[in-house]
Amino acid sequence: MKTKILAAFDADGTSLNSAAIARAAALLLAGRLVAFPTETVYGLGADALSPDAVARIFGAKGRPANNPVIVHVADVGAARALTTDWPDSADRLAAAFWPGPLTLVLPKSELVPEIVTAGGHTVAVRIPAHPVALALLRKAGVPIAAPSANRSMLLSPTTAEHVLASLAGRIDAVLDGGSTPGGIESTVISLAGERPRLLRPGLITPAQIEGIVGPIERGPGHPEGTRGRGSGNAGAGALPAPGMLARHYSPRAPLEVSAEGEERVRILLAEGHRVGWLTRAAGVARRDRLVPTEMPEDPEGYASQLYAALHALDAAGVTRIVVDALPSTDDWLALSDRLRRASTPSTE
Ligand code: TXA
Ligand code: MG
Repeated sequence: MKTKILAAFDADGTSLNSAAIARAAALLLAGRLVAFPTETVYGLGADALSPDAVARIFGAKGRPANNPVIVHVADVGAARALTTDWPDSADRLAAAFWPGPLTLVLPKSELVPEIVTAGGHTVAVRIPAHPVALALLRKAGVPIAAPSANRSMLLSPTTAEHVLASLAGRIDAVLDGGSTPGGIESTVISLAGERPRLLRPGLITPAQIEGIVGPIERGPGHPEGTRGRGSGNAGAGALPAPGMLARHYSPRAPLEVSAEGEERVRILLAEGHRVGWLTRAAGVARRDRLVPTEMPEDPEGYASQLYAALHALDAAGVTRIVVDALPSTDDWLALSDRLRRASTPSTE
């Protein structure tokens, strides 16, 4: 198929292109796949209530069937309809962070097809804070299942060009809304267990979550049934801790995080590599076989540019990527997490 590129904004760049949004919504309602911008990364959308449409997402991405997808909704009422239990903590987190880069995992209702949750008992929901995503959700009038719009395991896309580089010819359309501002994926919190649990760090920090609901658990926890009421998504074939795959979010070139970036770069250049270097040091000049990228000093700025920088290094054809080590504080947690996954060899 030929992937249509739909301009999400009018020529002036500020008002929404309602014809493009309507076209994208019609495609979704016909069971087709449309990539669209959110405030985090581009999502690959399908009608979440249609098992056939959602199956196309898995096919286009090459995503393993045991990895469930996030369902995007326009308002809290729509989120509640997809769940059977809506604790007070969900209300408080939604009030504090929705629309925004926070995904809540809750027990699923019968409305949600099994394929969306990979056969598990819980569903992940969020209201995105992006005018194009919200307009599309309102126009389509159905919840939209959308993982990041990239081939499985590779980097999430932050521009329509990134989406096309990965999925052109495999999806029906992309709504081009320019660069996504956040740059990395949402924070995923499970509210299906005894205590809120951080399943995937993201743009909302643990401190922000704890400011609303008190102490949270971290990591995958125990699958349901092994110790009390777990917070995982266990059920036929679902990963016990989806989203916690060791390797994920990877550029094509092997990536390493180093406390001595400059020295590693020197060694790799001497070995004959073309080296991409993400550094927070200022003023490193580009030279033969070295492509330096100066990264912002603050975590929000760094997040907004990380994937774009790695996509650019892939496009530049570097053979190795060195990333200067990041601070180990919680406000850098999501970035350290993504870099750790990006640096895990595919054999592990
Ligand atoms: O920012 C984001 O979250 C983007 C935009 C498009 O919304 N989406 C995204 O989707 O990153 P994806 O599929 O690439 O990552 C969703 C994560 C995966 O790690 C998945 O395993 C996890 O959420 N997830 C989905 N449903 C789940 C569930 N029921 N229980 C636990 N984890 C779940
Ligand atoms: Mg993804």
